[in-house]
Amino acid sequence: MSIATTAPDAAGRIRLASRAAQVPPSATAALDAQAKALIALGVDVINLSSGEPAFPTVEPAGRAALEAIASDFTRYTPAAGIPELRTATAGFINRHGTAYEPSEVVITAGAKQALHYAFTTLVEPGDEILIPAPYWVSYPHLAALAGGTLVPVQPFPGAGLKVTADQLRAAVTDRTTVLLLNNPANPSGVVYDRTELAALVQVAIDHDLAIISDEICDHWVFGDSEHTSVAALGPEAARRTLTVGGVSKTFAMTGWRIGWVAAPTPVAEAITAIQSHTASAPSSISQKAALGALTSDLAPELERRRLELDDRRLATIKALEAVPGVEVDGDPTGAFFLLADVSGTYGRGLAGQTITSAADFARLLLTEANVAVVPGADFAAPHHVRISYTVPPDRLAEALPRIAEFAHQLRLDPA
Ligand SMILES: Cc1ncc(COP(=O)(O)O)c(C=O)c1O
Repeated sequence: MSIATTAPDAAGRIRLASRAAQVPPSATAALDAQAKALIALGVDVINLSSGEPAFPTVEPAGRAALEAIASDFTRYTPAAGIPELRTATAGFINRHGTAYEPSEVVITAGAKQALHYAFTTLVEPGDEILIPAPYWVSYPHLAALAGGTLVPVQPFPGAGLKVTADQLRAAVTDRTTVLLLNNPANPSGVVYDRTELAALVQVAIDHDLAIISDEICDHWVFGDSEHTSVAALGPEAARRTLTVGGVSKTFAMTGWRIGWVAAPTPVAEAITAIQSHTASAPSSISQKAALGALTSDLAPELERRRLELDDRRLATIKALEAVPGVEVDGDPTGAFFLLADVSGTYGRGLAGQTITSAADFARLLLTEANVAVVPGADFAAPHHVRISYTVPPDRLAEALPRIAEFAHQLRLDPA
């Protein structure tokens, strides 16, 4: 693989290194651009494609950031993050039964950067990374940037969008080195329970795989579901697991860019070294903001938000049950998304356009009903669309009837 760029070619273009050139534009971004273009024209688009909770940043975070600026806490910090934040983060992660020391926690610029470091630290060129599908859109590219290949394991049809340990085991090869888990899952919103998760983790133990466990949505679990942290499943799980999380989703702090990875000391040290040569450290001000969030008593506020989101979740599921051709898949009891199978609308259409894929469905829903959802192709769910129910209740209450009306209008002969 060539990694060098060259001088501009005859057309004046700089040749990209293959690792950069291979990152394709995403269908998600294309739809987002189309939605924004419509909004710019004054169209009342309701955006159900968002990946963040529609709540304001928790108040103590902003206050702590202002104090950081006022006291000129604006210099480089230690590469792994300020010690008090590493301590607070270890305590926060350990509420799920893990036993991380502050020295095993590295603060990063969001969970996404933590994942990038995790892949960079673990993956050799040619390695295979197993992942239950559907999966979050960035994973294949993060794996590829590290020279690895993501190997998705598809759930059986009708299996509630969950894979089994036997399916995972059948996909292990002599090149498999990492099992990547994301629970609660984006995009499906499904939550693997403790028993299911322990079975998946046993595959990693039996084949001596490392585990990257993305638990960024750990706060957002509903109904009877509970969050299980992989590293809390016993010492064999803990010693091979990198736990990724952050403040983005729990505290509505996506723009502050603070995440973390917790891992056995040699891994944490390797990641700290990489961060020291790339980002130096995350923003000092954002670290103070995260510390403000983690050290305040926000339990009542977070619980209020969780219950509000649960109401929106239930309203969305109920409304979609009555929509012809659209079926909620699995039991979405986590994160703030669900996947709806829209293959029941194939062959029907509107305004001269026939739906033959989830991408067609999403495009037509946007142009004819002004509701933006994300087609599932980038998530390895080509017949589904991802619906994010985190928008404010009044917007959700408008969006759901629009989807129903749209589906009722679809005709076999749309000309
Ligand atoms: C599953 C998953 N992991 C990681 C991230 C990244 O989180 P952050 O904003 O903290 O980088 C996201 C954000 O959408 C996500 O959905």
